[in-house]
Amino acid sequence: MTEYYIAPSILSADFARLGEEITHVIAAGADWIHFDVMDNHYVPNLTFGPMICQALKPYAQVPIDVHLMVEPVDQMIDAFAEAGADIITFHPEASRHIDRSLGLIKSRGCKAGLVLNPATPVYVLEHVLDKLDVILLMSVNPGFGGQQFIPQTLQKISQVRSLIDIYEGETGRKIRLEVDGGIKISNIAQVAQAGADTFVAGSAIFGHEDYAKQISAMRQELINIKPAGCK
Ligand code: DX5
Ligand code: ZN
Repeated sequence: MTEYYIAPSILSADFARLGEEITHVIAAGADWIHFDVMDNHYVPNLTFGPMICQALKPYAQVPIDVHLMVEPVDQMIDAFAEAGADIITFHPEASRHIDRSLGLIKSRGCKAGLVLNPATPVYVLEHVLDKLDVILLMSVNPGFGGQQFIPQTLQKISQVRSLIDIYEGETGRKIRLEVDGGIKISNIAQVAQAGADTFVAGSAIFGHEDYAKQISAMRQELINIKPAGCK
């Protein structure tokens, strides 16, 4: 049975009350806290850095999932590991040495992942599967919350699901398949059906009055999903 995780993105939270927002969303059932780091260089927007992560760490009783949209990445890996990140993912285009950056994350005791933009081909995963704990597929172009889910992502999710299933079958090691961008109550089932097991949602949770209601409605959609090819 797939264990589904919901990872609310605090990009859509009230920035004036971030600690409180994290407390509320965890009480509402969040499995991870998704932390979108943007540098106005790799992406055309600017958010928060390691000092904010460190300040929020005491509020996060669940893993902090740091999504680095920065270039270069290695120095930020160190800083976020120090600041209490549990999972660190980065975009392969932003690192000169992908394997080295992944090794750096692991050497700091964090779980590591690669993030693929909608147009980034899946083959970049091929030689680094042993170092990946998470594969994050973007279903929007990175930089902003509240964008529309790009439907072509569904096929890519299935493709990566097959890759992971083969790898898990051979090694017994699990890799999470996370999807980020435009996830709503109305499409989460379809995304799970394609093979995702971890769902980032920003505006679909923080844009609403009752976070618990939104998260429960998402979980409700995930009951009885049987992803294609799953045992
Ligand atoms: C986009 C970010 C996403 C974003 C998702 O660059 O990586 O995590 O916050 O927001 P929604 O769920 O509103 O699309
Ligand atoms: Zn993100």
